[in-house]
Amino acid sequence: MKDTNKVGIIMGSDSDLGVLAEAETILKEFGVPCEIAVASAHRAPDLVHEYATSAISRGLKVIIAGAGGSAHLAGVTASLTTLPVIGVPIKAKTLDGLDSLLSTVNMPPGVPVATVGINGAKNAGLLAIQILATSDKDLEEKLIAYKNKMSADIKTKNEKLAKLGAEEYLKGMK
Ligand code: RP5
Repeated sequence: MKDTNKVGIIMGSDSDLGVLAEAETILKEFGVPCEIAVASAHRAPDLVHEYATSAISRGLKVIIAGAGGSAHLAGVTASLTTLPVIGVPIKAKTLDGLDSLLSTVNMPPGVPVATVGINGAKNAGLLAIQILATSDKDLEEKLIAYKNKMSADIKTKNEKLAKLGAEEYLKGMK
């Protein structure tokens, strides 16, 4: 039997999928069951309403919502549920994503959206995992291992940099 999905990922358009897929990838890497769907706050508000208001009864613990432009998906979702909502501002066609960032992050007091950086879907996935890990020892241990690996990778890079020098190191990065 499939585990109940713990994280719901929604996006304003399928054109956002290339970014939001990064959240799904990291969640799968950590073995967190998740679901992913398109649910635009402007083009399909009824769908967003149904998604957000049924999320808790369906077993979701965190929602990741990504949208671009006048990005209201995360905020509207947060207004309809008590689950933590993580907003991913998408770099859409204009303003390099600044419009998406500001409209996702600048919520009125009372309705928080935990907003990650522009196109920061991987961090959104990791933040969702960290929230779940507060009550899941296995996930906490996986996160510790993940952080240890990041640190070990930096040490390996420094050893290589010290051995090769900047010029040779950069050639290897091309
Ligand atoms: C937003 O408008 C979506 O989240 C997307 O980032 C942007 C453009 O959507 P499409 O015109 O590509 O469907 O609602």
